[in-house]
Amino acid sequence: MPHPIIELKDIKRVYTLGKNKIYALNGVNISIEKGDFVTIMGSSGSGKSTMLNMIGCLDLPTSGKVLINGTDISKLDDDGLTAIRRNNIGFIFQQFNLIPTLTASENVEMPMIFNGIDTEKRQKKALQLLEKANLTAEYAQHKPNELSGGQQQRVAIARALANDPPILLADEPTGNLDSKTGQSVMELLRELNEAGTTVIVVTHDPKLEEYSNTSIRLQDGEVYNENY
Ligand SMILES: Nc1ncnc2c1ncn2[C@@H]1O[C@H](COP(=O)(O)OP(=O)(O)OP(=O)(O)O)[C@@H](O)[C@H]1O
Ligand SMILES: [Mg+2]
Repeated sequence: MPHPIIELKDIKRVYTLGKNKIYALNGVNISIEKGDFVTIMGSSGSGKSTMLNMIGCLDLPTSGKVLINGTDISKLDDDGLTAIRRNNIGFIFQQFNLIPTLTASENVEMPMIFNGIDTEKRQKKALQLLEKANLTAEYAQHKPNELSGGQQQRVAIARALANDPPILLADEPTGNLDSKTGQSVMELLRELNEAGTTVIVVTHDPKLEEYSNTSIRLQDGEVYNENY
């Protein structure tokens, strides 16, 4: 049996604020297979973003283990963590997080610069990725403030795909979009999933659950649905 692409084993993430301890995650066990489309739901403060940050190796647990393709990330140094993120994970955020002074194309090229891809290859791939994200070439030279919210999110998705990550993580990707635009962004994530990418989406919106084959529900830092 191959390893699950992601495993969280008895994950706790405790924040200490003065005398108070906040158990943002309180003993989470999940296993995600390659090709899954997962939604993570739960009310505000239930630990969704904290969990996504664990999966994305942006933050380390207070206790428990995170395994990516069977690799225990607590065994890695900073360079190892950076490499595992860069090679495995693309991030999409609610606020798009594009660099305002760069064009759409340049935003998509950014992660490729960090990966040492030369200029010509980068530019060509950025255009291909924008096209894959259903943004036509005429927008490639636009800056983020010259694009609609939905178009900006498409640029952000293209950027997340820059290094061909097997895992896409999205924290409320439709949170700043109207429902129709949000739906088209979800359709795009579905297409990417059907092409083989493992997709994990945090959302407040129960309608988005229909896109997923696995739904994880969090409450007070614990998973409470029956499948888990
Ligand atoms: N850096 C931090 N320091 C202290 N407490 C934190 C920190 N980050 C998160 N928390 C707390 O951990 C809990 C879980 O937060 P988290 O951001 O994961 O929730 P969420 O489910 O993503 O909520 P939302 O839907 O509002 O984004 C909350 O009680 C939050 O206040
Ligand atoms: Mg959150």
